[in-house]
Parts: sequence; structure tokens; C-alpha cells
Amino acid sequence: MDLQIDMLKEIEIDKSWSFVEKTIKDTSYITHGYYTYPAKFIPQLAQRLIVENSNNGDIIIDPFSGSGTTVLESIVNQRIGKGTDINEIATLIAKVKTTPINPILLSEEFTNLYFDITNRLNGQYDYYLKEALERIPKNERIDYWFKNGTKNKLAILLTKILENQNKDIRDFFLVSFAQILKTCSIWMQKSVKPTRDLKKKDYDPIKTFFEQTKKMIKKHAEFDKILNSEIKQNIDNYREIKCQDARNLPCKDEKATLIVTSPPYVTSYEYADLH
Ligand SMILES: C[S@@+](CC[C@H](N)C(=O)[O-])C[C@H]1O[C@@H](n2cnc3c(N)ncnc32)[C@H](O)[C@@H]1O
Repeated sequence: MDLQIDMLKEIEIDKSWSFVEKTIKDTSYITHGYYTYPAKFIPQLAQRLIVENSNNGDIIIDPFSGSGTTVLESIVNQRIGKGTDINEIATLIAKVKTTPINPILLSEEFTNLYFDITNRLNGQYDYYLKEALERIPKNERIDYWFKNGTKNKLAILLTKILENQNKDIRDFFLVSFAQILKTCSIWMQKSVKPTRDLKKKDYDPIKTFFEQTKKMIKKHAEFDKILNSEIKQNIDNYREIKCQDARNLPCKDEKATLIVTSPPYVTSYEYADLH
């Protein structure tokens, strides 16, 4: 072990891999910033590995794809991106981040959602609350993390989102919903581990959701603009994201050019439970 550490000391550090100069704005370009996923790649790191080690049309795999950074960088750099992750929420996020949606349709859907939710909250609040509470899952952990008023508004919002018949649009709103949950709960601000803060300031879930969604719509339009049109029109041929164990790679042996991955912190972070 000591010998190995000494050998490492002799290797000159290439500072260009530290990406220390990158700002949050840089690392959340296009759809990369949709969700605060733990140990997410700096997109520029995945991008550089992909661009320097593969060619257009090559297959790139991430067996622990998390929120989909490798898959997203693969498709925007005209490769084929394939990922697996055991966490259902992660695969939802990765799918949304890599699914082009017509920006006009997305804006229209946003407007409809906004007006409908406003009506539900201002008009027949009790009626919609009753309906929402019957539909959302019963789980004591929800009451552990959310104050009652917040939980009720979130329930009405979630019910409305789930009514949308267009899966891509529904999933897009669901990722926005997932992203605001931590802020709107009593999860201690800036804490990575699950810690309650009983004195935390209240965030209005509806306002927070619409602010988050607006930002995402803007970013999705940027993604739509830079994505190669052949890839955009045939996205299912260029990216595959599966919710499964990494031992079942989504690719035949010897077909992938490159694996870009960051494995889980298995014993220290409960990815699925915490999201
Ligand atoms: C460090 S995170 C990857 C983050 C990713 N690079 C990104 O940019 O979002 C590791 C991931 O491994 C996933 N994972 C853990 N065990 C797994 C398994 N057996 N098969 C597939 N994925 C697994 C976790 O759910 C987690 O999303």
C-alpha cells in the first residue's frame, strides 16, 4: 500500500481535470441542473472523457447512471448513450433530461397546469384536497417530513400532474416536483444526510414548483436547440435508460466503446430511500 502511494506521488497532477474554475451555471448547462443528485458528475468531466476516447456513433455505457450525466453528454456529443441504475427516481430524472420535447408544447402544458392548479387552490380547495388525499400513497414518513399544509398542497399538485396523459410531459413535471420536495420539507437546508429542522422556514410548494418548472422549460429549449436533429427525431435509437441492476448491462459483450461511470457509495448513502 505504501509503495502504491509513493508511486502516485511521482505522477504529475494534470490540473486540467479538476474543473475547479467551473461555476454552477457552467455545470448546469442544458438539462444537467434539473435535480440535485448526490455525487453527480461534473458534465464537463464526462464530456471530456467521451470526446477524447470515442467517435460519433459509438456506444457509451454508464452502469451506475444516476441522474444521467453520461447518457446526456453522449447524445449531445452524437454518441449513443446507455445507462442502468437501480434507483427508479434516478432513471426517471435521466430519462427526462435526455428526452427532447417540443418547446411550444411544453410552454402550453405549463400554462394549463398553472391555471388549473390556481383554480383548484382558490376555488374548490376542499373538493380537490379530498380527491388528492384519497389518491396519494399513505406513508407515515410523509408526515415525518412534511407539515400538513404543505403536504396537502403537494397532494393536489401531484394529483393534477398524474392526470396528464402525455407521458413525456407528465415525467417532466414529476422531476420538477421531485426536485422541490427537499426544499419544501423540513429536511435541513444544505444537509446531505436526512436531518430534520423543526424551525425551517416554510416554502410555498406551488410557488416553488412553478419557479423550478419555469427554469427547466428554459433549459429544455436550450437542449432542444443543440441536439442534433437526427438524434432528436429518433431519440430511442440513441439513448437507453433502464432501471435495473448494473450486472445486466444494456449492451451485448464487446459492443460498447467506452464506460464512463462513478460507482455508488454503497454503505454510506441510501440512494433510493432518500429520493
Ligand atoms: C455516484 S451515483 C452516480 C451518479 C451519476 N454519475 C450522475 O452523474 O448522476 C451511483 C449510482 O449507482 C446506483 N446503484 C447502486 N447500486 C446499483 C446497482 N447494483 N446497479 C445499478 N445501479 C446501482 C445508485 O442508485 C446511484 O444512482
